[in-house]
Amino acid sequence: MHATSPLVLDAAERTRAATLLSQFTDRYENSLTHRPIVPDPDRGTLTKLLAEPFPEKGLGVETFFADVVDRIVPHTTAIAHPRFLAYVQGPPNGIGPYAEAVAAVLNQNCNLWQISPAANVIERTVADWLCGLFGLGPGSGGILTSGGSGATKDAISAAIADRRPDFRDLGLQQNRPPLVLYTSKEAHRSVAKAAAVLGIGLRHVRHIPTDAAFRMRVDLLARAIAEDRESGNEPFCVVATAGTVTTGSIDPIGPIADLCTREELWLHVDGAYGALFVLAESMRDDLLPLSRADSITVDPHKMLFAPLEAGALLVKDMTKLRAAFAFSSSSTYLTAIDDDQLLDYMDHGPQLSRGFKALKVWAALRTFGVDAFRSAAENCLTLAGRLGARVSADPTLELMNPVNLTAVCLRVPGRSDEAHVELVTRLHDEGTALLGPARVRGRVGIRACVTNHRTTADDIDLVADRLTTLAKG
Ligand SMILES: Cc1ncc(COP(=O)(O)O)c(C=O)c1O
Repeated sequence: MHATSPLVLDAAERTRAATLLSQFTDRYENSLTHRPIVPDPDRGTLTKLLAEPFPEKGLGVETFFADVVDRIVPHTTAIAHPRFLAYVQGPPNGIGPYAEAVAAVLNQNCNLWQISPAANVIERTVADWLCGLFGLGPGSGGILTSGGSGATKDAISAAIADRRPDFRDLGLQQNRPPLVLYTSKEAHRSVAKAAAVLGIGLRHVRHIPTDAAFRMRVDLLARAIAEDRESGNEPFCVVATAGTVTTGSIDPIGPIADLCTREELWLHVDGAYGALFVLAESMRDDLLPLSRADSITVDPHKMLFAPLEAGALLVKDMTKLRAAFAFSSSSTYLTAIDDDQLLDYMDHGPQLSRGFKALKVWAALRTFGVDAFRSAAENCLTLAGRLGARVSADPTLELMNPVNLTAVCLRVPGRSDEAHVELVTRLHDEGTALLGPARVRGRVGIRACVTNHRTTADDIDLVADRLTTLAKG
């Protein structure tokens, strides 16, 4: 019997749903290493899923879980497989799915602090902890986002608002010098995409060449800024990268920050991939210059292994985020009451309704402790170093990048581009691993990215052994 609404599960249904969920998670966990990493889709099932009308009368809890097991799971990628090494994406940490479930039960709307005070404090705790990792200092803060791309877009919005305080009223439609943004040739596509959708225009994005280690050339950045000023353009923002997506290089943040100070430019660091390696002792000194940035993108759904989605934007000065995003409202239910301890997140980002993403990050940090994440980051670095060393020592393989973080790009000298793509397919089809294709300075190769807390030294050795055999064959 439904006590209140036909959309509420009764006690027996809740117990059944919980049991089925628990069985599903156990079976999934236990089957993980035997699964194909990428599914071989059964077109018939997918076509049926696509064409099936929704029933007028509900099919019940059991059918939902049966569908998950029979029709959905076989067509999903096993991201948590220990040899899923294709993207900058890790498997979720163990508490993540449970924290997501709790967040869904509570369904807090994290816009105004009054309607979600605990969630508000938890988001602030997470953001402040992240700021503390980089020593961003008093006045800093952050907000959780859909991911790294969203965080970078919001950072560039804040940079525009900072440069042009009348941007909100006038947009970029005034007859004024074009704003110019600088990033490197190795930057993630989300940087140019953000500039495009925010109206800066791709013509006003300069992709500065990189050095032999794939880091932005600061001398060429300085030259490009000077040339733009001479031609009447208005430089306003540099987006440096801490951990480029292909090779894991870290731009020279200190010298870039010096230049930005001299030139009065906003410095954003895209640390979606690399910034959280600050947790690893061995990378701390390389990443501490991020404290000089005006804003930083970090991605808890990468190196904190939060289930998708959880990105974060950190800013040195929270008032700048507020200046970009706060709108006074005439809706009476949105009456903000200022409070020193609490923040109205709707005034610090583009969303009004916002989910309780911070809970899964907070839950993981408390459940496993910060030390567990330090070890996971260090372990990924060690494993990538191990793979890099194996490739370097193997005369049949060529290492294409210095292994700064956890991206290892390699090729088999003498093989064609197509042969490299075939090699990636073969490694997957035979069940060895999912690696990705890579293009490094125009040359095609193969990329393994170790951002997976389940990967072990044995996994890496298996991949290295197979690469050697296939390269010889
Ligand atoms: C350097 C870098 N920036 C940005 C992104 C985009 O992050 P997200 O996928 O969370 O939007 C990625 C994703 O891998 C990345 O490696």
